Amino acid sequence: MSSPNYKLMYQQAKELLTLGDAVAKAANFSAFLYHELEDINWLGFYYVKDGQLMVGPFQGKPACILIPIGKGVCGTAAEQRKTLRVANVHQFGGHIACDVDSRSEIVIPLIDKQQHLMGVLDIDSPSLDRFNEQDQRGLEQLAELFVQSLE
Ligand code: SME
Repeated sequence: MSSPNYKLMYQQAKELLTLGDAVAKAANFSAFLYHELEDINWLGFYYVKDGQLMVGPFQGKPACILIPIGKGVCGTAAEQRKTLRVANVHQFGGHIACDVDSRSEIVIPLIDKQQHLMGVLDIDSPSLDRFNEQDQRGLEQLAELFVQSLE
């Protein structure tokens, strides 16, 4: 697997996020990342709604609609407000198996300028230990760009 060019992806995403409303941006952004990254089976948004996470625009198989804050990888990343990189989801207590193909994942919280938690960006891979530190840095910057584009 070749390593992604996060610098180039950042420039491309910046262009992509110049137009549209929040749904248009989230839909195009998830499609962009899903097709740019290799070895991914699910990629998309969960937004905070009425004290839970609700699925938003994504690429992949139909997913769980609601995830309680504090549950699964997404809910834990939301609760802790920090990125979670899980090398083997089957070893993560309380992992929610929406797509049985998922074996590793990275979940990045989306926090706006007012420190308000909007939701999370969830990226799943069918391979074990798919995401390294470089992916984490690159994806956190892309997620920040997405949040800024909505402000
Ligand atoms: N794996 C996630 C649930 C969401 S789906 O994978 C799309 C979790 O444990 O939070």
